Amino acid sequence: MSDRRNAAIQFAHENRQRFLNELQEILTIPSVSTDPERKADMLRAAEWVAGKMRNLGIENVQVMPTPGHPVVYGEHLRAGSKAKTMLVYGHYDVQPAEPLDLWESGAFDPTVRGDNLYARGATDMKGQVMAALKAIEAVMSAGPLPINVKFLIEGEEEIGSPSLGAFIAGHKDLLACDFALNPDSGILDPELPTITYALRGLAYFEIRLYGPSQDLHSGVFGGVVHNPAQVLCELIAGMHDDQGHVTLPGFYDSVHPMSAEERAELARLPVNEASYLAQTGAKALWGETGYTPVERTGGRPTLEVNGLLSGFTGEGSKTVLPARAMAKVSCRLVPDQDPEVVYQQLLRYLEAKAPKTVRYEVIKHAGSPASISDRHSPAIQAIQKAMEAVWGIPPVFRREGGSVPVVVQFQTHLGVESVNVGFALPGDNMHAPNEKIHLPTWARGIDTLVHFIYNLSQ
Ligand code: BES
Ligand code: MN
Repeated sequence: MSDRRNAAIQFAHENRQRFLNELQEILTIPSVSTDPERKADMLRAAEWVAGKMRNLGIENVQVMPTPGHPVVYGEHLRAGSKAKTMLVYGHYDVQPAEPLDLWESGAFDPTVRGDNLYARGATDMKGQVMAALKAIEAVMSAGPLPINVKFLIEGEEEIGSPSLGAFIAGHKDLLACDFALNPDSGILDPELPTITYALRGLAYFEIRLYGPSQDLHSGVFGGVVHNPAQVLCELIAGMHDDQGHVTLPGFYDSVHPMSAEERAELARLPVNEASYLAQTGAKALWGETGYTPVERTGGRPTLEVNGLLSGFTGEGSKTVLPARAMAKVSCRLVPDQDPEVVYQQLLRYLEAKAPKTVRYEVIKHAGSPASISDRHSPAIQAIQKAMEAVWGIPPVFRREGGSVPVVVQFQTHLGVESVNVGFALPGDNMHAPNEKIHLPTWARGIDTLVHFIYNLSQ
């Protein structure tokens, strides 16, 4: 190892406690992008990130407005025109923390228990953003940055990055780079370094059903007026067949089969039915027949009910025939499925299946296509070597079931690939109560990124 590389790693190790304190600071800000009441906190989080960058010596740091929440930009371009330019992506927004009573410590009161730091956003992804910033800090402490770096930290990822595509398209020169680092990602196990090469897309909808003009007595009108809660349940039940296929008309038309080679490779990953059962606590697994769990989450499209609302759900009983029913339904997409086309498919399904007794409306929420990334670029080779240096074994490649809209936006508007490497773990409770980050893995993540930066300059 070169002296500088050594010194940077040593700096990262010696400063771990301070890094952790700083992470805890940003985790106290409830930057929930979907909540209109949190607009001021969103700005506070953006300013906090901008301030951190400025302290680090990042230049031209700006909190830039968008039609939604602002984007934080910064750059350090002193390595010269021959050096590579890396665009570091991140998001400072988080998912809602509810249900709050299931948290063992406050969602925005970051708390260390054992090897983990608990807070909303700890792993998704304030911890990952901080890992990137701290790795760069460590490298800068040991000498001049050997590559050029730009930062794009947004505030709308958890609502589907609705403003980011246009922002990137409008700032192509500012954001020009050789590749992007997307740390909004994870590894399969603390002992298994992992590179994500595909992320699914998303098409999210709200279905509202309207029955009678007001709630009715279920004894007086039950059996005469069609109950919208029942209709909604039947419509949703019909969205899958008994093989676990999605029944929206044409849903699989543009879905490519995975190659035998890719399936064989995915089969080698150390995840199986037992590990999914253990991770989820589900009584048994479920899904599309003919595919393994890894294939079903990574390489196949799915449809989920994210929420249901109708009638009386309070304590005790109320004999009511509700006037309306609502469901939030979303599809995870694979490459070449278009969220807009899936919307049309849902409309066609409802046209064919909804009874004449109800009126319905569909509201579109987040929509973003899937991405698949180059696995053989120089940047991927540099991260492979970096992970091997830290873990002592080479990383595996996997497809991720979750979505990160920016990866396609970078491909489309900047023509660059992303290195999807972050250090979240499957057991980190992303989007759930008691979200956490595993601190030993976080530390390894910082070391990995230090190595990555030096590898890129070779
Ligand atoms: N960090 C996640 C994506 C992810 C999940 C990466 C699991 C690696 C492992 C990201 O913040 C996320 O949750 N995205 C949303 C995006 C959506 C609103 C478009 C998602 O996947 O639900
Ligand atoms: Mn995330």
